[in-house]
Parts: sequence; structure tokens; C-alpha cells
Amino acid sequence: MAISSALQADQAIRQSIEALPTGYWDFANVDTKEWTHGYHSYPAMMIPQVARSLIALVQQHQPGIRSLFDPFMGSGTSLVEGLLAGLTTVGSDLNPLSRLMTQAKTTAWDPEALQSCLKTLMDAVADIQISEADGPHFDNLAFWFKPTVITELARLKCGIENTVPDAIRPFFWVAFSDTIRWVSNSRNAEFKLYRLDEGRLAQWNPDVLGTFRKVIARNEIGNARLWERRPLPAVSLHTYNAMDLSALPEEVFDLMVTSPPYGDSRTTVAYGQFSRLSLQWLDLADGPAPNKLDQTMLGGTAAPALQHALPSPTLTASLGQIAQTDANRAREVLAFYQDLDVTLREITRVMRPSGYQCWVVGNRTVKQIQLVTDKIITELSERYGLVPVANFPRVIPNKRMPKENSPTNQVGSKVTTMNSEKIFILRKN
Ligand SMILES: C[S@@+](CC[C@H](N)C(=O)[O-])C[C@H]1O[C@@H](n2cnc3c(N)ncnc32)[C@H](O)[C@@H]1O
Repeated sequence: MAISSALQADQAIRQSIEALPTGYWDFANVDTKEWTHGYHSYPAMMIPQVARSLIALVQQHQPGIRSLFDPFMGSGTSLVEGLLAGLTTVGSDLNPLSRLMTQAKTTAWDPEALQSCLKTLMDAVADIQISEADGPHFDNLAFWFKPTVITELARLKCGIENTVPDAIRPFFWVAFSDTIRWVSNSRNAEFKLYRLDEGRLAQWNPDVLGTFRKVIARNEIGNARLWERRPLPAVSLHTYNAMDLSALPEEVFDLMVTSPPYGDSRTTVAYGQFSRLSLQWLDLADGPAPNKLDQTMLGGTAAPALQHALPSPTLTASLGQIAQTDANRAREVLAFYQDLDVTLREITRVMRPSGYQCWVVGNRTVKQIQLVTDKIITELSERYGLVPVANFPRVIPNKRMPKENSPTNQVGSKVTTMNSEKIFILRKN
């Protein structure tokens, strides 16, 4: 695309955004579980309507685009929306559960085949006998599941393996994974793994097969809608570390829509911890060991020193302020942005010139200093040849993410960290 037409497209995108009514991006009362978006819970999911609107905006002003990439696909929200918009989609995430969820959600499964598999499965499960040796063996199994639940889950897993054809299994594994979370001893409303208190645990008697059936029935509704939308564009999914996308060719993607992590997994959202019980049951072959996943994610290892060469004055100033009260914390924060900077380089390498990158980020607070991630990424992006196109806030009415944390680790001392997020668009020159 010639420079002048790229600038015109930038300008047209900005005008379209300015013409939107106030609060447009909040999507306060929308159905965030429509299509296949409700298959599985996941922390900090993107609102589908945000991804949908961003894709539509870029398609309106760059009508020829054909492909969408999300390097932090999580539960696959932007990929599902990319498909619905007719784009070939490529997604990646370090978390193998992410790939499974996204595979299930971006595939239109034959509804009749699902029904027939479910019937065969349920008939088979009734007859499956499980001994302790057949069940999974991982640390704390009995801490997280009641004995009857372990037996029921093991029978269900064995039934899926024995009766559901390989090609259809992802749909059933995702339902199995969501079931695991609901029937475990964890507090389901939390995205970190906390066990139910003793009182609630004593009363806890979950119905494994009943829960599984309900999850399947719910997911079948989403699938039936996607099935009607066939033929769907191609999808390919990976478990690459976004810091190393060398397996992907250069300059292939037209559009990126993503929401990266807000910070390192230890102090923000622990995606690995959230996924651990499912991963331990599912024995997915790829990716780091379930209990090592969080350390492998962005910012998993603190920077050795506070000196850095990242070209972001905003980051440097914030690190200096944090270091005044806690130098170790500042090194952890630095590690996150150093890693994010590498991903920015990698993402830009695989984007074609004039391709837009749509980022949805949370600006968290550390030691009472707000980290203005949208500004930091924008500053970092300049040396990779990206130009800022638009930047606007969105209020978070219903996102499953931390709204409060304890900045000082004092009991009862909480600050609000994120009630809004930033959406910004960059373009590769
Ligand atoms: C905010 S979530 C994405 C949520 C997603 N937009 C959705 O709607 O579900 C961020 C994702 O980044 C992934 N992640 C963190 N570090 C990563 C890395 N180094 N490489 C690839 N993925 C990473 C996490 O596993 C998580 O799924």
C-alpha cells in the first residue's frame, strides 16, 4: 500500500472511532457467550464484541485483508471473531489448554456426530470400572478432588478415550476440562486456585456426569450456530512462545488483534495456575509442565539489574519510582516489559507492511505507580517501524480479572487496579 493511502486509512480509522457514541467500547450489557465464546471459562477473556468491532473497523478501511493473527490467543476470542469475519486465522499461546479451547471453538462440529458420540459415551461410561491404578497420579490430586469425583472423572476420561473418534475428541475434551473446574474443590468464582473452606467442602457433592452433560448441551448450542456458518476459513493454532515466532514466515499477516498478559503471572493473572488441574487430567503433550507454565510466560524471570536499554521514557520513569520503595519489584516489572518488547519485535516481523496491530491492554498499578502499558508499547514500537494510529479507553463492566490487589501485602489493604483498559492501534510502516 502506498504511504499516502496508508495515512488516509489511518485517518479514516480515527474518524470512524471518533464518530462512535460515548461508551461504545464498553459493551456493558451484551451477550459475551454467544457463538462458541461460552465453551470454557478463562481469565481475562477479551469481550467478543471488542474484537468484532476492531476487525470490522479495519476491514472497512482496508477491505482486502485476508488474515488475522493473535499471538496471545487465550480462549480464542479474536480467532472466533476473525473466522466469523471471513478471515483466515492463526493463533498461538504458550498454554496448551488455550490451543485446545481455541480448536474446539473455531471448528464447526457435525451436530449429529456429536449427539451420536455423546450417546455412545454415556452408555459406555455406565459400564466402565475404574481402579485406583487407572486414575491420574499428580501431586495434590486428593486435595483438589473428592474421591468419588476422581472416580467419576476417570471413568469419563476413559470413556472419551475408548469411544469418541480422535477427530471429534477436542469438543469433548474441552467440555471435560470445563467440568473439571466445576467439580473440583476449588472456589470456582476465582481465577487463582483456592480450595473451598472446610465448611463448604463438607457439603460439596458435585455431580460429575450431570455437569458434563450440561456443559456439552450448552456448547452444542454454540456449535449449531457455527455449523450454520460453514464453510469457514482456515485456522491454524500453535503453542509458540510469543517471544520466538521464528517458525512463522515473515510479513504474512494482515491484521493482529490481541490482549497480552497484564504483567507476570505471579503477581497478575496466573494462567498456568488456572489451567493446571485441566492440564494435569488431560495430559496434553505439548508445552511446559503444567506447574512450570507461569514461570515460562512473559516476565517469568526477574531481570538481573535495573539498567536497561528499552527506548521507553515512560517505563524508565515508572521503574525509577517503583525502585524507590522496592528495587526487586522494579526488576520484576522490567523483566515483563523486556519480554513484551521481544514479542513486539516478533509480531511486527510476521505482519505485512501496512498491517494493523490492535492491542487491548490493562494498565496495572505496582507499588501505587500506574504502569501505562499502552504508552510503553507505543514508545517501544517506534524502533520496529510501527506508527500509532488510535488510542482510546474502555470501561470494564464484566471482565473476569483482578480489580483489586494488595499493594503492600497488608491484610485488608486493597487498591483498585483495573476498572478500565486501553485499546490502541498501531500500523507497520
Ligand atoms: C489476556 S490473556 C488472552 C486472553 C484472550 N484474548 C481471550 O479472549 O481469552 C493472555 C494470554 O497470554 C498467554 N501468554 C503469556 N505469556 C506468553 C508467552 N510468552 N507466549 C505466548 N503466550 C503467552 C497466556 O497463556 C494467556 O492465555
